[in-house]
Amino acid sequence: MQGQRILLIVGGGIAAYKACELIRLLRKAGASVRCVLTAGGAHFVTPMTLAALSENPVYTSLWDLKDETEMGHIQLSREADLVVVCPATADLMAKMAAGIADDLATTLLLATDKRVLAVPAMNVRMWLHEATRRNVKRLRDDGVEVIEPDEGEMACGEYGPGRLPEPEAVVAAIRKILPGTGSGTAGEAGGGGAGTHALPAAPPRAFGARSPSPKGEDLSGRHLLITAGPTHEPIDPVRVIANRSSGKQGFAIAEALAELGARVTLVAGPVALPTPVGVHRVDVETAEQMQAAVDAALPADAAVLVAAVADWRVDPAASKLKKADGPPQLAWRENPDILAGLARSHLRPKLLIGFAAETGNVVEIAREKRLRKGCDWILANDVSGEVMGGDLNSIHLITAEGVEHWAEAPKADVARRLARRIADALA
Ligand SMILES: Cc1cc2nc3c(=O)[nH]c(=O)nc-3n(C[C@H](O)[C@H](O)[C@H](O)COP(=O)(O)O)c2cc1C
Repeated sequence: MQGQRILLIVGGGIAAYKACELIRLLRKAGASVRCVLTAGGAHFVTPMTLAALSENPVYTSLWDLKDETEMGHIQLSREADLVVVCPATADLMAKMAAGIADDLATTLLLATDKRVLAVPAMNVRMWLHEATRRNVKRLRDDGVEVIEPDEGEMACGEYGPGRLPEPEAVVAAIRKILPGTGSGTAGEAGGGGAGTHALPAAPPRAFGARSPSPKGEDLSGRHLLITAGPTHEPIDPVRVIANRSSGKQGFAIAEALAELGARVTLVAGPVALPTPVGVHRVDVETAEQMQAAVDAALPADAAVLVAAVADWRVDPAASKLKKADGPPQLAWRENPDILAGLARSHLRPKLLIGFAAETGNVVEIAREKRLRKGCDWILANDVSGEVMGGDLNSIHLITAEGVEHWAEAPKADVARRLARRIADALA
């Protein structure tokens, strides 16, 4: 990150103290940091703290004549390689989404021609509120990178999504965005080991500036839909029908596509995996919920359905089944076929990709599956070994043109290879 210039806007949230650690880490990595502190932010940290840590003046007012003559707000917004809003409060994001410019922070956010990264932190109800959902979606559509907050216990005592990610995770997100700084860490999350190669960082896209038609590996302006993980079909309030899918391959694909600049919606079954940076995640439990989330996410330019969706469900018992009553008689019902349904939909993505986790004659089964389901490509893998839950995968890519055999590789590498193929196909 040597020589990169970060303009850090500190909003009025309880997590503002973490911005102090962020400054320290960014400077340690070689970046220079200039801070803008909102009036709300100044209730939580002082300009003196930010000035001392950044070793730069701190800007707080649009109406400071001295600041405006020395470093005007337009210049401030342009003399940066990246604008980072951390913490991004509900209020700040609402103003950004609406294009309000009533203080220094919001005015320069409207004036900037640089990429903007927002790191939200707020109470779980505020985060889940329809208004915030709308604003976040709006910002993402406008090209702002909005990181998903962490889930956990909050300063207010409630539990759920809304916590500011740790400063190290924010630095990792910044590395991925800043050209030339990102990809040293790209393989880490996906568990890629030796042989993991660096990808170019996502292309710069200024806040509000839609990119022209995508070319080559550039997926900016494209919406990609991914499903990942297993589904859980309840039997009673405590028992479920499940499978061994870990979600690792689907999450790695979502991450690789986001790295190429795509807007990614990841519909995830029950898995304990962190949300990849820049990815919009929708958590579901059952096949029917996954179907509804996929429908809600459409339209998409391409969809990669990696999730291991249960073929059958049962009508769940309202109360816990008792062992003493003997083995239960389960009435099985067929679950929706999400891949085949999407292939028939009037909103069918231009490129529809399915996965076939099979044992036995994997390629033959997958060839037949591609035709039966009506998708464009099938990625077939033999799951008789350690693939489910493991970090390696070997793939047979089945298209209308034939079959390609991809040698065993870390799931992160498989994901990047697939992401590049998708970018080429959509170009
Ligand atoms: C103690 C306290 C903690 C707060 N924490 C948050 C928070 O974490 N996230 C948030 O969005 N708003 C939070 N707020 C509300 C914001 O401070 C308020 O909306 C403010 O107008 C935001 O200012 P800004 O636009 O400068 O960020 C908090 C308020 C108080 C009093």
